[in-house]
Order: sequence, then structure tokens, then C-alpha cells
Amino acid sequence: MAEIRPIHESGFERQEGDFYPTPAWVTEGLLSNVALRGPVWEPCCGDGAIARVLQAAGHEVVATDLVDRGFGRGGVDFFEAPRMPEGCRALVTNPPYGDGGVRGRDGKASRQMLAFTEQAIRLAQRADGQLALLVRFQWIAGKRIASLLSEGAMRSVVVLTRRIQWFSHQGLTNTGQHHHAWIFFDFGAPPRPRPELIFAHGPGGQRGGMPDLGQEELPLRDAADVDTSSLRNSGNSGS
Ligand SMILES: C[S@@+](CC[C@H](N)C(=O)[O-])C[C@H]1O[C@@H](n2cnc3c(N)ncnc32)[C@H](O)[C@@H]1O
Repeated sequence: MAEIRPIHESGFERQEGDFYPTPAWVTEGLLSNVALRGPVWEPCCGDGAIARVLQAAGHEVVATDLVDRGFGRGGVDFFEAPRMPEGCRALVTNPPYGDGGVRGRDGKASRQMLAFTEQAIRLAQRADGQLALLVRFQWIAGKRIASLLSEGAMRSVVVLTRRIQWFSHQGLTNTGQHHHAWIFFDFGAPPRPRPELIFAHGPGGQRGGMPDLGQEELPLRDAADVDTSSLRNSGNSGS
């Protein structure tokens, strides 16, 4: 029987472009604990795993990704975006952590996550908006990121007490070793001296959860009805 190892021990190849769809309960855990304003931008939407949950909860979503994965608009590099798409007031994503990323950047996962977070904070701040990023829980303890997070309008940390199972391999499942958390900022709300620590328990631990989303396609507010021209495209043309 094949050995199942945690993702970070790399028993399996990392997915190209750090593509790991987020299970629905993870986004539901965020939505149960924070109130999002306005249309939401999912800038690394992948196949829409987060966007669909946001839509099912009644949010308008603008979904983009560097790679066209058949959902939203491909060919949009988050690092090149000068601002949030027109009308968006919240940015929600599970970003590429950098240890398998499309660009590789400077090859250091922690630096890529830091750069991603800096850019996300900049864009959300510019829009007086909100920002929710799914990160490895232990990552927020790093010295540089801790100091960056202390400067921002971080409102809460929603800690997932259940570990995320990211993918299955030949019928076997993988449970990651890491715990994850949503870090949530609100640049439009009065500052709070310290972020709130919230625990979300996931399936089995939550009462009255969200409906099962299945694979149903929900209407997407996207390139057709939203002006995404402010987002510069990379060479990858996408849809
Ligand atoms: C960990 S996956 C998450 C996908 C989706 N957010 C979810 O949670 O299901 C990261 C995604 O980021 C995308 N990505 C990587 N680098 C990017 C960039 N510079 N700009 C936009 N998207 C990027 C990848 O193509 C991939 O789909």
C-alpha cells in the first residue's frame, strides 16, 4: 500500500501552479464568522472552488487567475494588478504559497507569500476594502510577516481546527500536516487594537451549515459584465 505523506514532505509532486482547490467547508468557515461587503474579487480562482461558495452565499464574484482553469477569467497576474476590479470591495483567496508556483518568483516560498500579502493589503487598503487570505497557521508566526500583519487593519484570525485534505491520489486521500487559518482585514472599519481569534470547526463541528454545492454551475459576474480592464493581463491569454 502506498505511503501517504504530508504535502510539505513532497511524497507527491506539487501541483503545477500551486493549484489546490479549497474544500467548500473552509470558505463556509470564513463566511460564518465575517460579514463581507460588496462584490468580491477572487484573484486566484482556480476552478472556482472558493468563488462558488461565495456565490451560493449571495455574493457577486469577479473571478480571475493567472491560468485559465475553465472558471472565471484566465491570464490575469495578481502581481500586476494596480487595483481591485471596478466595484469590488472585498478580496478573498487561497493564494499560491510559492512552493510550486507558476512563476517561481525568486524561488523562496516565504518571500512569495510575503509579496502576495503585501500586494493584497495594498489593493484592499486602496479600496477601503476587506481582505481574507487562507494561510498556513504557523506562517503568521514568522518575524517579517508578523510585523507586516501588525501594521495592517487585521480584524480577525479564523483558525480551522480541522486539517484540510487537499487532494486524493489514486483513490487514497492525503491529509496535510498543516493547520490553516483565514487572516481577515477590514480597511473600511474603525481600527481595532488587536485581532480577534476565532476557531472554526468544519464539517461535523458546525450546526446548520451551508447547502451542498456539488458541481452545479452558478452564474458568474465576470468579464462579460464587469470591467476588468484595470487589471493588466499577462501573456497567458486565458478565456
Ligand atoms: C492554491 S490554488 C487556489 C485556487 C483557488 N483560490 C481555490 O482556493 O480553490 C492557487 C491558484 O493561484 C493561481 N496563481 C498562481 N500565481 C498567480 C498569479 N501570479 N496571479 C493570479 N493567480 C495565480 C494558480 O493558477 C492557482 O489556480
